[in-house]
Amino acid sequence: MSAAGVVTVAPVARLTGHIAVPGDKSISHRAVLVGAVCEGETLVRGFGRSADTEATIGAVRALGAEVEELDVDTLRVHGVGLRGLRAPAGPIDCANAGTLVRLLAGILAGQEGQEFELTGDASLSSRPMGRIVEPLRRMGAGVESEDGHLPLRVAGRALHGVVYELPVASAQVKSCVLLAGLYADGETTVVEPVPTRDHTELLLAAAGARVSRRPTSVTVRPAERLALGEVEVPGDFSSAAPFVVAATLVPGSELHVHGVNLNPRRTGLLEILERMGAHVYVYNRRRVGGEPAGDLEVRAAPLVATEVEAAEVPLAIDELPLFALAASHARGESVLRGAAELRAKETDRIDAVVDGLRALGAHITGTPDGFRVRGVPARLRGGPLASRGDHRIAMLGAVAGLASREGARVEDAGAVAVSFPGFFELLAELAAASAGE
Ligand code: S3P
Repeated sequence: MSAAGVVTVAPVARLTGHIAVPGDKSISHRAVLVGAVCEGETLVRGFGRSADTEATIGAVRALGAEVEELDVDTLRVHGVGLRGLRAPAGPIDCANAGTLVRLLAGILAGQEGQEFELTGDASLSSRPMGRIVEPLRRMGAGVESEDGHLPLRVAGRALHGVVYELPVASAQVKSCVLLAGLYADGETTVVEPVPTRDHTELLLAAAGARVSRRPTSVTVRPAERLALGEVEVPGDFSSAAPFVVAATLVPGSELHVHGVNLNPRRTGLLEILERMGAHVYVYNRRRVGGEPAGDLEVRAAPLVATEVEAAEVPLAIDELPLFALAASHARGESVLRGAAELRAKETDRIDAVVDGLRALGAHITGTPDGFRVRGVPARLRGGPLASRGDHRIAMLGAVAGLASREGARVEDAGAVAVSFPGFFELLAELAAASAGE
């Protein structure tokens, strides 16, 4: 990487081989946060170490829970019990991590008689927090934001259960309310019109919380004590996805990605790619840490355009930038609708994707809630791609470079460390090994 953080990704003739990706970021955050309020120790194996999840370790330590780092991906979290967290003297820095700030706020809202302040970096400070302030206040918590943004001040109080219908399809908001529900008097129900990732529900049930699920809602009852014991974290589908798309686009590729989380609420991209004609096979299906997992075999395939609508958006939310790239290579016009949430991510991901892929030669136009892409089944030209400090956009640029004619220069490429610090090393090894075969 250059001093300015630019990484040049050269085109490749094919991608072949076997890889594995780090542990799932969503589950890693949850294992540490829930582990911190468990009784006794939680051993977390396959922890997905990244800037985001390290912020979570830092946060629970600041709150008095000890975390031993036994290995790069093995942690022992010493739980302090549901009501054992202690407010630090200063603010808790959530860095770039939306999942951390929103889930932690739910837990802190139940720490009666204590006050906490949550801060974050410039990106996190520009993201909407009103979406958690509102339900937490309804539950009786004292929560103040800066006009819907960080810093957030949370005063733990006696909470009461609510029935809360999510106004936006957000697993972070759902999780915040469910975690607060552990501390509430009576039942707490979150109604979600469109399903979102359910890692919190799965983990809380594994920890002994009383969680009941219906097709469009989840209910949690107050908890006396939680205990996890051990959590094994499967590989992150969102970190596998750039490689899946790269192998689909680069002719002659045959790539295996092992040990990936295949929770159906995360793998919407596979359904989308399948409609487009991609060849992705799942084998060795198994359960890892209570989650569906398996291995993927990806073979390059010509793609056709498809349309993605609102109901599919939460199932592929972090992979929609990659859908835009796949669509740029697919015959016909692809459309994404109902994805205005992309504008509330680490960057405005509609603008970042549209500007980024256009600079590489794609025919893509933004809309208020998505984009339209006129695909051409050929390599894109290539060129510079501004990540805007967003990890998913930096990885998008890298994959686009592999599948391009001239390569891509990914600006502010270091942003990948937010979810996948070894991304460029893995990519370089794979490209070199594929060239040597
Ligand atoms: C996440 C949920 C999603 C996703 C984010 C991680 C989680 O956010 O985009 O990367 O771990 O719950 P929203 O739930 O706000 O859409």
